[in-house]
Amino acid sequence: MTPGFAMKKLWIVCSLLFLVPTSGMTATPQPVSAKHAMVVTESRIASQAGIDILKAGGNAIDAAVAVGYTLAVVNSCCGNIGGGGFMTIHLANGKNTVINFRGKAPLNINKNLFLDANGNIRPNATTSGYLSVAIPGTVMGLDYALKKYGKLTRKQVMAPAIQLAQEGYAVTAYEAKLFATYSALFSAQANVSAIFLKDGHSYRAGDILKQQDLANTLRLISEYGSDVFYKGSIAKKIVAASEANGGVMTLKDFSQYSIKETAPIQCQHQGYTILSAAPPSSGGITLCEMLGILQNIPLKNMGYQTAESIRDIVESMRYGFYDRNTKLGDPDFINNPVAELLSPAYTSKLSKKILEKSTVEHNQVEVDVHEQTDTTHYSIVDSKGNAVSVTYTLNGFFGAGVIAGDTGFFLNDDADDFTIVAGKSNKFNLMQSATNEIKPGKRPLSSMSPTIVMKNNHVYMVVGSPGGPRIITAVLLTLLNVIDYGMNIQQAIDMPRYHFQGVPDFIDMEPMAFSIFTSRDLENMGYHLRPQNKWAAVEAILVNPATKTLYGANDDRRPDGAAVGY
Ligand code: DON
Repeated sequence: MTPGFAMKKLWIVCSLLFLVPTSGMTATPQPVSAKHAMVVTESRIASQAGIDILKAGGNAIDAAVAVGYTLAVVNSCCGNIGGGGFMTIHLANGKNTVINFRGKAPLNINKNLFLDANGNIRPNATTSGYLSVAIPGTVMGLDYALKKYGKLTRKQVMAPAIQLAQEGYAVTAYEAKLFATYSALFSAQANVSAIFLKDGHSYRAGDILKQQDLANTLRLISEYGSDVFYKGSIAKKIVAASEANGGVMTLKDFSQYSIKETAPIQCQHQGYTILSAAPPSSGGITLCEMLGILQNIPLKNMGYQTAESIRDIVESMRYGFYDRNTKLGDPDFINNPVAELLSPAYTSKLSKKILEKSTVEHNQVEVDVHEQTDTTHYSIVDSKGNAVSVTYTLNGFFGAGVIAGDTGFFLNDDADDFTIVAGKSNKFNLMQSATNEIKPGKRPLSSMSPTIVMKNNHVYMVVGSPGGPRIITAVLLTLLNVIDYGMNIQQAIDMPRYHFQGVPDFIDMEPMAFSIFTSRDLENMGYHLRPQNKWAAVEAILVNPATKTLYGANDDRRPDGAAVGY
């Protein structure tokens, strides 16, 4: 027996005897349970606002709109009215739908605006300042959802957000740390530092942050609806600031902006129906393609977090991301081969390749590591069985880092989600293709995956995450942890994650994700492992099919979040 093999055997024996986890499983609290309704967001304040709306007679859509606006106040890095996203809805009457409120590139956009004389992308051109801003969709998306599917008035659902902006809220320790990290960004602009610095210094935990400008803006929206944002004073202020600071946004961009409602991407996994965001998000398709591939692979028999099961899951990620990056884009501009990518003929061909263990083709393209993440996800189920899954984003933390005049809210930097130059990766290291090239009026391809899982026509899970491309793999692993490995929703979220997107050629792993033996086995198979800090933040709800008890789980990777139910 080689020393290595002896050690491995000893580890397995210890694991069995003392229940030492072979990967990073740590003690995990029980999910929050409730009888009637559940709201899970990255902010306890926002979760409570959602529950208050439900208790006041609102449905899940009313609560989703209230939470969307509340997060724009109490989670200013990520919650937003200056960005966009996707809302996946299941109504108790059986209807499933997705509201696409992804931002659009301005009509005067041109990829050359981002390039230097040598054709290279100018540093930060796609990630900060007015040129990087897509016309925001959040206000129109929330307004549309409320009018079409809500029960309460705009004034009712916006009241908590307005009050929090006006009267302030206590900054948390997590947020204070984030504010301190971005203090140089804040201090560079007078209108930003007036809000996000206190006497020239970062807000500290417990300080009360009041946002008078944002309160005024929210009050206008509450009073006049999305018209004031797209055709009125708010559009005018954004356009004026953009013109003065190198942007190309016009009033026409705002007045012509539109949201869309589409059917969700749908697939089956082990008897469950998965509903998720459709293009221009790649989320639903890529998630369903990976699940389609894994459907034919006996993961459970391979054991949890073994080199064999990780290999097969990683290979499903490789195929999923390859297709994402080369074939998908805004359906208003390109034809997405949805049926082809999700057909059992295609996915089983890929599973077969994986099972045959055909040689792993490693792509050696080197890319810079320059990830910076933000976005936020929230999940809601009401007492009637309506469910809402929302992911919306400013892209990076505090988006483009700019606030137009006295509007009080950050604008997104979604231009970075486009392909600017083929062969050059974006800040998520995504190497994308012409299907996602930047064009006037186009929406950039997203990875946002607000998902609802159904079992026998009833809501089983509501799930989603921030994390750029890691959104898709975080949601995938959460689903596999629950459906294939039988974990409860909190355990499924707490388990250490790994992520692979083909390029760069690394399996990224959270601390404690793999035992040293598993790591060694994976390396012997030819994979390159890259330890990383924890990422993403899955905010999810699971409904027990037998008892109908709701279980909510916040991801501790965002410690301010909470599952609140009643
Ligand atoms: O839409 C997308 O895919 C990205 N803009 C999302 C960014 C993100 O999730 C960053 N988060 N942590």
